[in-house]
Amino acid sequence: MNVTEKQEAVRMKRAAVILISGFLLFSGLSHAEAAGTTAKRFDKATKTCRIITYQDIRDGYKLFENSCKSCHYRGNKKHARFLYSESKVRKGWDRVFSSRYTRCAKNGSWNKLTTEQLAVINDYLFESAADTVGPYAKPVGKLG
Ligand code: HEC
Repeated sequence: MNVTEKQEAVRMKRAAVILISGFLLFSGLSHAEAAGTTAKRFDKATKTCRIITYQDIRDGYKLFENSCKSCHYRGNKKHARFLYSESKVRKGWDRVFSSRYTRCAKNGSWNKLTTEQLAVINDYLFESAADTVGPYAKPVGKLG
């Protein structure tokens, strides 16, 4: 092998390494995206194990903004107090939906929402509760 041939061989090897690592990175990402799931949670209200998808989190966020924050917005001092996803830890949110102890759940303010919609709101709040961020954050529990 002369010098130019050697250089060519090195260049080919480099190209192969870059191609292979690019492929591995891409297939890793598309695997996570295809699964589309982030965590699981046992839902006491429906006694099912919920596999939370990114779509659930997006839907839950919208439902929470439209159906809960319509009362629980900042400055609504007379009626409902301000709530956001970090108002409670995961356990606290799960208890809100499983025991439905809040005044609004009892007086029928949740009646417009289906069981599935409430479970999806619970999914979103579970994923963005106070104990999911910061130095003491609980791991989200990645699925394989
Ligand atoms: C029609 C208005 C209304 C709607 C809609 C509503 N709430 Fe309430 N909620 C209230 C009122 C009034 C109270 C009692 C006062 C308070 O604690 O803020 C309350 C209390 C609560 C509490 C207790 C407060 C605490 O700190 O523990 C929670 C939690 C709660 N609501 C969650 C929700 C969730 C989740 C939704 C959406 C599924 C929702 N609320 C929708 C009016 C509403």
